[in-house]
Amino acid sequence: MYRIGKLEQDRVEKLFSSKEIFRYGRAGECETFEEAWGKRLGVEHVRMTTSGTASLYAALIGLGCGPGDEVIVPSCTYMATALAVLATGAIPIVADVDESITLSPRDVERRISPYTKVIIPVHMWGLASDLDGLMKLANEHNIQVLEDACQSVGGGYKGRKLGSIGHAGAFSFNYFKNMTCGEGGAFVTNSQEVMDRGSVAVDCCSYYWNPDEHKEELQFAGLNFRATEVAGAILNAQLERIDDMLGTMHDHRKQLLEAGTDAGLESIAYNSFDDDCGTHLGFIFGTEEDAREFSGRLREQKVNNEVEESSMRGFLPIDTGRHVYTRWDPIMRKQGAHHPDLNPYNLPANQKLEVEYSEDMCKDSLEILSRAVLLPMHCDNSESVVEQMGKGIREAA
Ligand SMILES: Cc1ncc(COP(=O)(O)O)c(C=O)c1O
Repeated sequence: MYRIGKLEQDRVEKLFSSKEIFRYGRAGECETFEEAWGKRLGVEHVRMTTSGTASLYAALIGLGCGPGDEVIVPSCTYMATALAVLATGAIPIVADVDESITLSPRDVERRISPYTKVIIPVHMWGLASDLDGLMKLANEHNIQVLEDACQSVGGGYKGRKLGSIGHAGAFSFNYFKNMTCGEGGAFVTNSQEVMDRGSVAVDCCSYYWNPDEHKEELQFAGLNFRATEVAGAILNAQLERIDDMLGTMHDHRKQLLEAGTDAGLESIAYNSFDDDCGTHLGFIFGTEEDAREFSGRLREQKVNNEVEESSMRGFLPIDTGRHVYTRWDPIMRKQGAHHPDLNPYNLPANQKLEVEYSEDMCKDSLEILSRAVLLPMHCDNSESVVEQMGKGIREAA
């Protein structure tokens, strides 16, 4: 969460005075947001949900994922990416990231099997995945791509919008994301079929709200992860802020990258530096020891924002807990459901997949994630703060 205030407050107040907070009422906040988000992304269909996890789940159901299918996920993502796969009955296959800290097409190719149904590139920390490489592979092997854009709301890739390039995309609007309504999400696609099926997964009666859609094939059992108009109203206000915020962070990151590379640091391998979210600057080191020394020295650098002095915050991705596969306990232990008979690892349709997980199954990732240091940007940093940060980076380097 970067900015929230009067804009959101006014919009919600107006909604409350209408008393229409159910999404199929007359206020139309969710519909307005879905239309605007679709237009911004250049996609035909958008459906709001209650979270990024629900959005990934809906998109996977939409793409036809289920028992007997493998879904390739990166070794570095919030655990929910892989858990959404299990919720459909399919099995997550973990693949390496490269020095972009996102999914490595080379490793994905190695892990494709006759059962691979979907690849999920995750644009972690606002960094775009190598979508050219991954889409090429997917097309060659007749596999679908679901972009997990939960951490990259508003960002792009080579002139297009993240989330709009694969066969489907999923977004989170939880408190920590570039746009927020506290908790929320959306999935997007250009396919009517994916949207219809995904919609039933997150709104068990979705075909009922639209009388034209009483199709028998849609009347399977879904759940309810319907968004509220309150979320829609907040996001409509947040939409007015996103470009300015990301633009500012982009400018700051460019300035700070130059400070680092001038001082001899090596940048991580950005796949689309000018278009991604710009929320994180990354450097990569020869060894973990060097990375830790740099991040320790960075913490000793102080930045004064005219109100208070604080230490600079850089982090090693390896230290981010459930963002690294070795800490995905339910997956590593194959506890894929609340009941053994529903556990995808026990389902007869999945027995042919022969999936084995181990701590070192993505050794290259662990090594890369231990040698990288990421620095968060903030759109409210003043020019003076950014200058001090640049000086701090040079000193630490
Ligand atoms: C990469 C990624 N995928 C999925 C999610 C799940 O989103 P949510 O918390 O809205 O369910 C998150 C949330 O932190 C995330 O960072």
